[in-house]
Amino acid sequence: MRTPVIAANWKLNKTIAESVEFVQQLRGALNPWPNVDVVLCPPFTALASVASALQGTPIGLGAQDMFWEAQGAFTGEISGPMLVDAGCRSVIVGHSERRTVFGETDEMVHRKLLAALTHGLTPILCIGETLAEREADQTVAVLARQLSAALGGCESRDCPRLIVAYEPVWAIGTGRNATPEQAQQAHRFIREWLTKGRGAEAAESIRIQYGGSVNGANAAELLRQADVDGALVGGASLKAEAFSAIVKSAAAAKAVHSP
Ligand code: 13P
Repeated sequence: MRTPVIAANWKLNKTIAESVEFVQQLRGALNPWPNVDVVLCPPFTALASVASALQGTPIGLGAQDMFWEAQGAFTGEISGPMLVDAGCRSVIVGHSERRTVFGETDEMVHRKLLAALTHGLTPILCIGETLAEREADQTVAVLARQLSAALGGCESRDCPRLIVAYEPVWAIGTGRNATPEQAQQAHRFIREWLTKGRGAEAAESIRIQYGGSVNGANAAELLRQADVDGALVGGASLKAEAFSAIVKSAAAAKAVHSP
């Protein structure tokens, strides 16, 4: 059984004080702790403070992005060793907002993913099709292209650490989530792709999150799908109450499937 993993992507939101307050509220809301891995991805400015606030909890800390070089003349960038130093264990790479708003290419995502692995971080690799691509029946072709570009050079032995987030672009921030069937279909395709390229053992160990308008009302149904191993949550992760409801849904949805 894969332990479900629910991650909060706060994007460009929250001051340091707001981030720390969220942690206090979440600690209260998730007591007793459910059998779910929880990761918070605050903005860079709040990482160190959130790391302190998380001490003594099982909640993991992640960053929203990183640069592939470790140091040097790269104004404005943050490196893997800096994230580790701030207390991060994981990092989102290739989020669709990085790809579309900031022009990140498949090749850049690949370099970031390898750098994350090199520095001991768990990459949360985001992939997903646009509405136009879905309507043109290009969904699996896009997912295969993004997987193959990002994961080149990534060995099977690195796979257990990898998390893939399927985030259809048309579902992000729109209130229009993928149906559980659409999510399961895409996740199944991703796992089959990983099985062909990295072997069944690695593919079965990799957790695949769904992201795109996940909230307390739709999380349970999405997470009941066999290949949906968690969620990457944007808007609904900004309030501790809404986010903890999703974490609890994950525990309940996956408990139903336990032998
Ligand atoms: P929303 O949950 O706001 O749709 O955002 C999803 C997302 O982009 C998470 O990375």
